Amino acid sequence: MTTASIRPLTAADAEELARLLAASRELDAPCVPERDDAFFTAEAQRARIDGTHHVYGIFERALAGTIALSNVAGAPFESASLGYWVAAARRGRGLATGAVAALSDLAFGELGLHRLEAATLVDNVASQRVLEKNGFTRIGLAPRYLRIAGAWQDHLLYQRPVDD
Ligand SMILES: CC(C)(COP(=O)(O)OP(=O)(O)OC[C@H]1O[C@@H](n2cnc3c(N)ncnc32)[C@H](O)[C@@H]1OP(=O)(O)O)[C@@H](O)C(=O)NCCC(=O)NCCS
Repeated sequence: MTTASIRPLTAADAEELARLLAASRELDAPCVPERDDAFFTAEAQRARIDGTHHVYGIFERALAGTIALSNVAGAPFESASLGYWVAAARRGRGLATGAVAALSDLAFGELGLHRLEAATLVDNVASQRVLEKNGFTRIGLAPRYLRIAGAWQDHLLYQRPVDD
């Protein structure tokens, strides 16, 4: 198992991130939202980094992926949604698992959240493993939950409340 670290992305990471996304584009297409050519430019990635809170790079020496919290809600929910991606050439080495562990620590510690949730395509077994290895449990099936690859697709929902 390799060691993943995370840190907030900055504009200086945009060019490398665009390169990694472009290299993974074909493989990722079935499991990500539809993206036009402009998405794979450094300019678009710079704008995404600048315009998004809680977006982190996954690093193992160099940049290897991204992990982000969205829909961060205050009391009484104190919950956020988790999303992650690892560059195709760096998969299968524990990086997503390590990054989810690191961001969970930050979410439950520094950010003081009570709960994290995540959703995977029904056939995305790798992502389900990443969540299960981090103490997430499956809480249901949401029909037509997210628009992925141009179609509304069913997702399995997972959550992890903070440890007592
Ligand atoms: C899902 C994703 C983040 C996993 O990243 P990763 O760094 O390869 O994940 P890890 O190496 O930490 O763990 C992957 C686990 O899934 C398992 N796995 C991988 N492919 C699998 C498959 N086809 N069937 C069953 N298990 C599989 C691995 O064996 C590993 O589990 P293990 O440690 O018990 O052996 C990566 O494939 C990815 O970015 N995919 C495209 C985007 C995506 O799907 N994001 C998540 C949206 S919900």
